[in-house]
Amino acid sequence: MTGVALVTGGTGGIGSAICQTLCRDGYRVVTTYSNEAKARQWQDEQRELGFDFAIFPADVRNYEQCLRAVLDIEEVKGPIEVLVNCAGITRDKSIKKLTPEMWQQVIDVNLTGVFNFSSIVAKSMLGRGYGRIINISSINGRKGQFGQVNYAAAKAGIHGLTMSLAQELAPHGITVNTLAPGYVATEMVTQIPAEILERIVAQIPVGRLGQPQEIARAVSFLASRDAAFITGSELAINGGQHMY
Ligand code: CAA
Repeated sequence: MTGVALVTGGTGGIGSAICQTLCRDGYRVVTTYSNEAKARQWQDEQRELGFDFAIFPADVRNYEQCLRAVLDIEEVKGPIEVLVNCAGITRDKSIKKLTPEMWQQVIDVNLTGVFNFSSIVAKSMLGRGYGRIINISSINGRKGQFGQVNYAAAKAGIHGLTMSLAQELAPHGITVNTLAPGYVATEMVTQIPAEILERIVAQIPVGRLGQPQEIARAVSFLASRDAAFITGSELAINGGQHMY
């Protein structure tokens, strides 16, 4: 039996694939949004593809909005069994050009956002003694990347959060894991200047970008009851670009 899965950043490239896969797995899938027009358009597109996703407003940077969303989701849809923290942005610049604002925006969305939803949903999962939290990090949280001081710091921070929270929640039937995708064919990656992207793909032993579905299938497994003994881990899915 499956319940509610909340995917933050569900309207994004990887997020959409995760929503669709969890929906096929039988979850009632919900995502949150900060841009209503974009979210409504996404919801309509998904409906045309045969997926019925609920959307709730919440800027992941804002704890009060996240709390309101979780209360509303659980009241309307039921208890959240799976939380996937997938909301993320890039503001890539080398250090000479990286402004404090660009640093803060990325830390707020990519790291504080994970704290906000994880802490709120964890308290609710603790009351039920079951849950799955999956945090979407990045290859660049492990290896660093020219132009991503902000992003790599936030993504590395995610796994510290994962390992600590996993220790706290393990005795209560809740697992917490990090999934670290490499370069996946989404808008975030395809907007990298072509000649730079070409150099990046040349560093991927598998010889191509990943597909969103290849990330979503792993989320599906980590979310399942079969994954009960996996917690505090980081699963790298990067075509061999960085092995650890
Ligand atoms: N390595 C070494 N030197 C580099 C370099 C690199 N990768 N990239 C640029 N440089 C050099 C430039 O040639 C330039 O040298 P000169 O001053 O001698 O001309 C210098 O560094 C400064 O370059 P720019 O002025 O172009 O730097 P910038 O501040 O405008 O930043 C950039 C450029 C935006 C970072 C661009 O290099 C870029 O887009 N890189 C790709 C970053 C990347 O991989 N982002 C991942 C996005 S997808 C994602 O994040 C998903 C995920 O999880 C994987």
